[in-house]
Amino acid sequence: MPGPVPPPRPKPRRRDEGPGIDVPVSKNWDVQTFAVYPHAPNEQTKIISTLDRKVRLTDHAVLSEAGRIEKTSGKRVVEMWQFRVRNHMMATMSVLFALLVSLDAANARGPGLPNVMVLATGGTIAGTGSSSTTVVGYTAATVGIDTLLNAVPELKTVANVKGEQVFQIASENMNNDYWLKLAKRVNTLLAQDDVDGIVITHGTDTIEETSYFLDLVVKSKKPVVIVGAMRPSTAISADGPINLFNAVILAGSEEAVGKGVLVALNDQINAAREVTKNNTSTADTFRTPELGFLGYMQGNKPYFYRQSTRRHTADSEFDVSNLDTLPQVDIVYGYANMNRVAVDAFVAAGAKGIVHAGVGDGSLARPAVEPALDEARKKGVVIVRSSRVGNGIVARNGEAKDDEHDFVVSDTLNPQKARILLMLALTKTSDTKEIQRMFYTY
Ligand code: SIN
Repeated sequence: MPGPVPPPRPKPRRRDEGPGIDVPVSKNWDVQTFAVYPHAPNEQTKIISTLDRKVRLTDHAVLSEAGRIEKTSGKRVVEMWQFRVRNHMMATMSVLFALLVSLDAANARGPGLPNVMVLATGGTIAGTGSSSTTVVGYTAATVGIDTLLNAVPELKTVANVKGEQVFQIASENMNNDYWLKLAKRVNTLLAQDDVDGIVITHGTDTIEETSYFLDLVVKSKKPVVIVGAMRPSTAISADGPINLFNAVILAGSEEAVGKGVLVALNDQINAAREVTKNNTSTADTFRTPELGFLGYMQGNKPYFYRQSTRRHTADSEFDVSNLDTLPQVDIVYGYANMNRVAVDAFVAAGAKGIVHAGVGDGSLARPAVEPALDEARKKGVVIVRSSRVGNGIVARNGEAKDDEHDFVVSDTLNPQKARILLMLALTKTSDTKEIQRMFYTY
């Protein structure tokens, strides 16, 4: 009996054939745009090849209505480069040249660049000093968005950038109203198809708080990058321009999608939940103590090495779209010889929540503070035990009987970030079990 007939063998492909279709090059097209992908040089040969007067498209590339060939990643055109196709030899040389050029993202030009919106809010990055050597004692928040953007003409080479002045403050004056305004604007912009990412220029003093607030309430996976500077715009070696340039690249990058709100300064990328200002005045002030930053900016590209594991942005349950205020939550700082005055004052002033920045593992002074917090809890104020130490987990039922007192612990959040999560938690519930779940989730 003859065996089953084997299926016909596929016709062998020519070496330069890949998956994709050939598109004839129109005689009228003297300018072609070919897509190149700067972050995966090996992919480039798969994306384009010229065969006489044809261009090969793969599933990584599309032919746009304008007759351009664009590389896509999701919906977004990643990089494009234009050149003239005169003849086969010229085309081949052009392709090789395009591959070389594409290795440097800063050289990318044209309509395929990402659309990045820069929202300005003030800070030292927009500050001016009386002389070029004034790096302390300057005035923050004096330079407007247009001047900030015009100071970095290189931005045009990496993104289609638009700017907007949302407000103009030194960030020690940040408050809940500004946060709500900023969050709503960010969400509106990110819902638009023509915005790929957002950069927020911000004073460094409260960058860690604004970034964590946005991390919890932004409803998008698109990149949001917060940037500042430690030296005013008028200073020798001002760090604002390079920080802004890197932030725009990061906000327009595929790598930053889905990573939550990022804080990027000094060539380093940090997660909003973990970053903290660590030095009063040096340019390397932003740190993620012990856990480390997420990655670097180098050679006009982001390089990520880890991610925050906590829920954020598009996966967050918090929504401020219909809120005009946030509940009052205050921080009580722990110290030796402590008394209960601050706790009682905040309760009398109407606090709905108190974060206690305790010594060590969130310890509470007895007999002064623990009974004061206990009484506050009995009046309905939610108490979160945090630590002034700056690192580590506050152990539940460790230094205080949290179950008995009905307290919540902050996990690893520092007091200023714990305050933000407690405010948002209180917009949804006053159930302390539920709030504790949120502290272990975000
Ligand atoms: C501020 O936070 O607005 C002033 C300090 C700074 O931006 O570095």
